[in-house]
Amino acid sequence: MRTLLPLEGKKILLGVCGGIAAYKSAELTRRLIDQGAQVRIVMTASAKEFITPLTMQAVSGHAIYDSLLDPQAEAGMGHIELAKWADLILVAPATANTVARLRAGMADELLTTLCIASASPIVLAPAMNQQMYLSAATQENLKVLKERGFTIWGPAQGLQACGDVGPGRLLEVPELVELCCEFFAVPEQPLSGVNVVITAGPTQEAIDPVRYISNHSSGKMGFSLAEAALAMGANVTVIAGPVNLTLPTNINRLNVKSAREMHQAALDSLATTDIFIACAAVADYRTEEVHSEKMKKKADTDTITLTLVKNPDIIADVASAKDRPFCVGFAAETNDVEAYALGKLQRKNLDLIAANDVSVSTQGFNSDNNALTVFSKDSRFDIPLSSKKEVAIQLLKVVSEQFNKTTKK
Ligand code: PMT
Repeated sequence: MRTLLPLEGKKILLGVCGGIAAYKSAELTRRLIDQGAQVRIVMTASAKEFITPLTMQAVSGHAIYDSLLDPQAEAGMGHIELAKWADLILVAPATANTVARLRAGMADELLTTLCIASASPIVLAPAMNQQMYLSAATQENLKVLKERGFTIWGPAQGLQACGDVGPGRLLEVPELVELCCEFFAVPEQPLSGVNVVITAGPTQEAIDPVRYISNHSSGKMGFSLAEAALAMGANVTVIAGPVNLTLPTNINRLNVKSAREMHQAALDSLATTDIFIACAAVADYRTEEVHSEKMKKKADTDTITLTLVKNPDIIADVASAKDRPFCVGFAAETNDVEAYALGKLQRKNLDLIAANDVSVSTQGFNSDNNALTVFSKDSRFDIPLSSKKEVAIQLLKVVSEQFNKTTKK
């Protein structure tokens, strides 16, 4: 039987920009194809000044794409189809100009248009003069793109075509190919056969038939954890508060609204739960009384009083159960993050807690990105700012390591 190549069946859209390193794109194309990838090439106008479309067509075996407004190309694979076709968009070399244009969301030429029209992961391999790379503008552009979920590979340090020495060289072709292979490598399955239950999203606590108390949780973090756990081999159940997100069909989804419904679903799942991850932003309080009819505005008073009562603490109850699962909590904090998180770790009797600083607007509630510090009783793991999908993978690596340690004791 023939063994599969590392990039077999993977569709890579290679964006080539106008820099001296563009000559390496031809070799890169060949080596990606050697590893089994299907490669299509998009060239910017200035890329064609450095390497000919004919060369890129010859090495890829396909016509290159270079125009947004080409009726012939649009009649074949149009730019939206091309954006959807790619499993990965790799821009190599990525020039300072293209980096700036991507940051600005420009859609006046094909490559940047494809990038904003695509839901696929995008990797930039910068190549430019070291001063341009180190300039405040380029550094800020790359930082913003990273926060939006772009991945940056390189650049390398060394002697540049212009004679300068410093950071700005395109990574060597074998390194780029290796990174692509790692990118697509099937993740290890450290949670194979493990039953993981994850709470996600907000809860809604009804005031009357049309009003409720809730919060800004979108469910993105919890749903990313569910997908990452599935990829690591777990049997996954998500107890989801009201969110507008979908899950793969092989994840068991239990929809709930209130904290009490989420509490009941968690306790009902307990007997078959190995790892319980409480990512939901559960309302700590609900109204004492839920009015059966819409509350009317009163003419004689400017204030009304709602009496709130405490909701059950879901993870604390799961963690205090007999034969409890491995328990992972989150701590969403705006100040004294570490101290409050450590307090919750101890008070709720958890195995791990993921401290989430939600005072920063680029992470936390309803953002696409996050950063966490994970604490056990005696260790600490920092997960830097990245997409919630990446943060979920990193968190589950910590969880699976710690869980496997406790089960092997
Ligand atoms: O959903 P997103 O928009 O992607 O945002 C993600 C997030 C910010 C909601 C998530 O990363 C996060 O921090 N979740 C925890 C939110 C929270 O309510 O934290 P807390 O510090 O109030 O609660 C501490 C822990 O107890 C949490 O694990 C929480 O799920 C749990 N809890 C809280 C109250 C309660 N009644 N029952 C609980 O189980």
